[in-house]
Amino acid sequence: MSYDYVILTGAGISAESGIKTFRDADGLWEGHRIEDVATPEAFEANPDLVYDFYNKRRSQLLSDEIKPNAAHMALAELEKGCSDKILIVTQNVDNLHERAGSKNIIHMHGELQSAWCKSCDSREVWTESLDLLTECPRCQKRGVMRPDIVWFGEMPYRMDEIDQAIKKCKTFVSIGTSGNVYPAAGFVRDARISGAHTVELNLDESQQSGAFVDARLGKASELVPSWVTEVLSGI
Ligand code: APR
Repeated sequence: MSYDYVILTGAGISAESGIKTFRDADGLWEGHRIEDVATPEAFEANPDLVYDFYNKRRSQLLSDEIKPNAAHMALAELEKGCSDKILIVTQNVDNLHERAGSKNIIHMHGELQSAWCKSCDSREVWTESLDLLTECPRCQKRGVMRPDIVWFGEMPYRMDEIDQAIKKCKTFVSIGTSGNVYPAAGFVRDARISGAHTVELNLDESQQSGAFVDARLGKASELVPSWVTEVLSGI
């Protein structure tokens, strides 16, 4: 499958929806060091802490305050306007692209509303809490369900599909990501090697800004709708 636009999104696109980004000024993620909550080693050492951390993030998605913002909505409009030519590759584990109406989405770092059974390797849509007592609905074992999140040191999902899409796309766009975490941080270089136009829409300069041909600074809720308007009007 080839797409005209491959759009990489990160925590910055959801910031104005009330979901905190990862790399705050204090270097902590919701008060925790990333290595204490987002590694397989942390889960093994302190499963209760890691379950609790993701249970809170998962329940936050159900609250009325968290909704897609103008940036998510604009990308869904773009997909409607260009049918199947858009692929969103998101590092985000929230569901705001889906709620805005986007259809072609790869969650390369997993999803909060999914649970993974380490015993029978099944995945289930999950909106409730998880803990060591949770029973797998498929194999009925306990103590085997984990958040379906790609932690540091684990392989992001669907990388072959993503690599192919980036190699074949005409335009690669990166929105709201600091460009610190590979492999996503390297996509812009792969896209340029394959001859794609590259656009970055971010609040601040990212680690990768220098690699983009068109790098724009500002809020996602403003930059994304205006970029989408340009695309849909053929500018
Ligand atoms: N509009 C646009 N960009 C924004 C906004 C906004 N309103 N608010 C913040 N940003 C930008 C910041 O300037 C920063 O460059 O979003 C970026 C967020 O960066 P990170 O917090 O590092 O998030 P992200 O790049 O998505 O992190 C990548 O790291 O911890 C892991 O797996 C986790 O998927 C995550 C990955």
